[in-house]
Amino acid sequence: MNASLSPDSWPSAHGVWHHLHLAPEALGAGTTAVPDAAIVVEQGAISWVGKYADLPDAYRQLPLHDGHGALVTPGLIDCHTHLVYGGQRANEFALRLAGASYEEVARAGGGIVSSVKATREASEDDLFHAAVPRLQALLSEGVCAIEIKSGYGLSLEHERKQLRVARRLGEVFGVTVRTTFLGAHALPPEFAGRSDAYIRLVCEEMMPALAAEGLVDAVDVFCETIGFTLAQTEQVFQAAQALGLPVKLHAEQLSDMGGSALAARYGALSCDHIEHLSAEGIAAMRQTGTVAVLLPGAYYTLRDTHMPPIAALRAAGVPMAVSTDHNPGTSPALSLLLMVNMACTLFRMTVPEALAGVTRHAAQALGLQATHGRIAVGWPANFVLWPLGDVAELAYWLGQRPACRVVRQGRLAVDGMGVHRSDA
Ligand code: NIG
Ligand code: FE
Repeated sequence: MNASLSPDSWPSAHGVWHHLHLAPEALGAGTTAVPDAAIVVEQGAISWVGKYADLPDAYRQLPLHDGHGALVTPGLIDCHTHLVYGGQRANEFALRLAGASYEEVARAGGGIVSSVKATREASEDDLFHAAVPRLQALLSEGVCAIEIKSGYGLSLEHERKQLRVARRLGEVFGVTVRTTFLGAHALPPEFAGRSDAYIRLVCEEMMPALAAEGLVDAVDVFCETIGFTLAQTEQVFQAAQALGLPVKLHAEQLSDMGGSALAARYGALSCDHIEHLSAEGIAAMRQTGTVAVLLPGAYYTLRDTHMPPIAALRAAGVPMAVSTDHNPGTSPALSLLLMVNMACTLFRMTVPEALAGVTRHAAQALGLQATHGRIAVGWPANFVLWPLGDVAELAYWLGQRPACRVVRQGRLAVDGMGVHRSDA
């Protein structure tokens, strides 16, 4: 199959997709499964969805695509990744197995700062080529939208480089990319002992410049004892607010800093990790509709035992998303379905909750809820045909990587055998 040139040259999904079995909630919260369904794709968007028997005559002359009874979900969304970086940190994995904690590794000069060194040394092209196989792994499992953070550059020049690579990945792979500026991820070595000065640089120079270049869709901070304080986090949020940029937060991962309540006050799209989230944090997030992004890959990799408060979030009705948190330190995970499995087994989420976590609620965590996360008329055609009989199989198989077919932005972007890219 021709995988060259641009996404425009990939096979079109234009026409009527039939012999489909729509998964429960594919059409929105509370909707039931639709057997013998069809989806009509025209000009990259969904123009009709329903029971094949009800297909209006006007669509019957369009090309037919046989789904062979596939289970169909909306395109998956990975709403928290650090996909673009140089190097890898397998050595720290070994150190932690020998007993060192994440904080000890970070304080000894490893951790985020070691990825900063490798990322600064890499060219924009190097970073792009390193990120390609990671993105392909995620796309081959049905991901149709992804968030990519900066945060391993920690200077204007190197943060720009990361964000530009994120945009380029979106263009080459015809995938929705939301960029998040995470300049306040760690203190760069040249600012040792001067964290307030670094935060000023983030707020007054880096963020405005990168936003003016159209590279920033949202702003994030690592609010933690080994990251930035609550007061510094608030300064970054104020700068983002002044530029009209939405915020999100790496919050309460290792301790309860009260970051989630602060983030909610700034109308945050999401608070992520939240293993140590308090009842006050939950109440604040509930009020503002802030999404709780759960990251079982980091929990697992750090052999954490402090569970995020799933039952309390559920009881409060806070929307819960699930993501890979792909990064070289705490979550070298490249399978969103594995995260769905872990959200169920480790965090005791139900299968429908975990599935909403990688579709509808993940869209909300990125501010994409008006166009992504379910199958709806008028929205971009993003859906996945799974060779599976039961929706629980999406959570059940451990590392299977089902040979799915993916309609992404109106094109057959994954055909069960591989992922198209525009510069191959
Ligand atoms: O989401 N917690 C902070 N940031 C990343 C880890 C980054 C790293 O260790 O390189 C996370 O887990
Ligand atoms: Fe993260």
